[in-house]
Amino acid sequence: MRFVLPKGRLFKPSVELLRKAGIELSLPEGRALTSKDGKVSIARALDVPVYVEHGIDVGIAGSDVVEERGSDVFIPLELPFGKCRLSVALPSDKRVEPEGMDGYRVATKFPQIARRYFSERGIDVELIKLHGSVELAVKTGIADAIVDIVETGKTLRANGLVEVGKIMNISALLLVNRVSQKVKFEEINELVMTIRGVIDEA
Ligand code: PRP
Repeated sequence: MRFVLPKGRLFKPSVELLRKAGIELSLPEGRALTSKDGKVSIARALDVPVYVEHGIDVGIAGSDVVEERGSDVFIPLELPFGKCRLSVALPSDKRVEPEGMDGYRVATKFPQIARRYFSERGIDVELIKLHGSVELAVKTGIADAIVDIVETGKTLRANGLVEVGKIMNISALLLVNRVSQKVKFEEINELVMTIRGVIDEA
């Protein structure tokens, strides 16, 4: 079985969980992106669902990125880490509800989710796609508001922003390629049961 794990905050808990489930993971070394045995690759978090959709057997990614990429993958388990939320935020001294944001420029790493959220509510915004440190867009004045991940809320506070609407709760998910799920059914099923056991024991 081949695994793809996300760079960043989900990496460590992902490795810990798989190791607890008895999987021997040798990780890529140095600048390599795949382990020597070819079993483990590390990708940008937003790309993990894409790798799983197109052929890697198993991956771990946040529900936010699965939704954003619209990837067709099988999701057998929600995992007990990566808990946070995707929210709309803007400067605390310019607080308005999302319904009052017509004509606003909104910066985000998640344009698909943001577009759906605002259009479902009939709010006309201009989205600016960024790749990270989205709070900076408001600080520098290139955007009026952001749609971004909130975990502790510290980053928002440190940048003078407040949440005005929650778009979705987020959790890490176990992703399985749809073909692998059929062709390697027993192996995958055993993996899922073992991981579930590890989660239930914790
Ligand atoms: C995420 C998110 C916020 C921050 C929220 O950024 O985009 O900036 O964490 O966490 P908090 O509520 O606990 O402060 P990340 O560090 O993943 O990097 P990025 O901004 O470059 O995407």
